[in-house]
Amino acid sequence: ARIRHYRWDVKYEFKSPDCYKKLVITINGRTPGPTIQAEEGDTVIVQVNNSLITENLAIHWHGIRQIGSPWFDGTEGVTQCPILPGDTFKYQFVVDQAGTFLYHAHYGMQREAGLYGLIRVKPREPEPFTYDYDRSIILDDWFHKSTYEQAAGLSSIPFQWVNEPQSLLINGKGRFNCSLSPIAGTCNATNPECAPYSQTVVSGKTYRLRIGSLTTLSALSFQIQGHKMTVVEADGHYVEPFEVDNLFIYSGETYSVLVKADQDPKRNYWITSNVVSRNRTTPPGLAIFNYYPNHPMKSPPTPPPTPPAWDDVKPRLAQSLAIKARQGFIQKPPTTSDRVIVLLNTQNTINGYRKWSVNNVSFSLPQTPYLVALKDNIKDAFDQTPPPEGYDSVHYDIFSVQNNTNATSSNGIYRLEFDSTVDIILQNANTMNKNNSETHPWHLHGHDFWVLGYGNGKFDKEKDPKNYNLENPILKNTVPVHPYGWTALRFRANNPGVWLFHCHIDSHFYMGMGVVFAEGIDRLGKLPSSIMGCGETKTFSFHH
Ligand code: C2O
Ligand code: CU
Repeated sequence: ARIRHYRWDVKYEFKSPDCYKKLVITINGRTPGPTIQAEEGDTVIVQVNNSLITENLAIHWHGIRQIGSPWFDGTEGVTQCPILPGDTFKYQFVVDQAGTFLYHAHYGMQREAGLYGLIRVKPREPEPFTYDYDRSIILDDWFHKSTYEQAAGLSSIPFQWVNEPQSLLINGKGRFNCSLSPIAGTCNATNPECAPYSQTVVSGKTYRLRIGSLTTLSALSFQIQGHKMTVVEADGHYVEPFEVDNLFIYSGETYSVLVKADQDPKRNYWITSNVVSRNRTTPPGLAIFNYYPNHPMKSPPTPPPTPPAWDDVKPRLAQSLAIKARQGFIQKPPTTSDRVIVLLNTQNTINGYRKWSVNNVSFSLPQTPYLVALKDNIKDAFDQTPPPEGYDSVHYDIFSVQNNTNATSSNGIYRLEFDSTVDIILQNANTMNKNNSETHPWHLHGHDFWVLGYGNGKFDKEKDPKNYNLENPILKNTVPVHPYGWTALRFRANNPGVWLFHCHIDSHFYMGMGVVFAEGIDRLGKLPSSIMGCGETKTFSFHH
């Protein structure tokens, strides 16, 4: 195993990813940031310098379990204090699983300013499929308002929603219609910064595309005109291969697909991303699938393919159900669980503020990171009352607008018995708008979970567990709960630390859509003093 050392300078710069010039956060001058490349078992060290001048920072390594290094999960308020402007912070962790992972800012809604990238970990063993070339595609949605303006709007009365993204980016490139730009000189359609991404391919060759979504809001449908894709990896685990025309991908998910360049090589084809699950007003994200030797920027001769209907849940549920662990690589889940926690996802109003809640509790982050508070037994650092294990499933109607006026705000946590098996049932419901239920991609830090099942309507705790897939469930770290549906997960609480579990939609988490699990704290050694310095740990960093 090797050590992979990175030095990152994080700062604000003016960029035009979609031709519209705005302030973005770059790593060493780039957004998306550099790809971390390592081999299974390597140690990655990232020395982050916060040059944002007036803004705090924390970076999360999404999909890396941080076994033995829970303090380097990069979750502000949970595992560390923010990195102050001018400070340097050293992340150090082992990449113990091969596959495709992500990294991104985990302070406020900072991710949407462009601080994100990919982690690619090569396996030590040969892979169960072959390809000629290995390429990366990062999908994002892009907003022109600043992160601060968005966040302030969400916590204002009257509520100001972030609205739909201005454009969709593929590998950091998009295209905003400059004639819609309100300010002269800020949008330039011929700026080379917003020239579309072009993936050159050679006829007859097979390409592995590692596709990751870091959208702030949008669920996406990804497509390569005229080409089939074979799904082979999801969140770092091999998938029993299946073929798709378009891939649905939710924020925080990664997939590898195999694509054979087997179409007419005399032309180029569109690569597209489109919003699904929200009434799309954003034009498609466009890139070019370029057959060598055609010019890489030559527009394909036919229009981009028609995307799936935004409100059709069926094909999305079907894809979710199709993702199974690959034969020969199945890690079976425990057949029973020790605890079942049901998490009802709802929208609420608390004192006039619009919130998202789980079992009617809207999550807020504490000033003192949980990890330090729990290790050093600082009881007043957060609410000691644990959040509810479920909701009143007998009386709650998930199909209509409910009067959730009993919602509260809390930073209480679930304490899990070390090494116990925990089931999570994500239960979706109607929002505060009539006939509306959204898709929420839930991401668990510190673990992979088995996806045991999905269903429509209200989860039935007698009937539905009988249909759980205990034979070949996929292990993932991010999973959608579909509109008016439920999703069942199982994981082992065997990673000492404090772990966030939250909706990966920036604004939803910001508005309270998350919970925290703590396990095995007594097994942790001394915490690094670099994670302290805020809340009730202010003086600690001097003692240590
Ligand atoms: Cu990728 Cu807590 O997030
Ligand atoms: Cu959500």
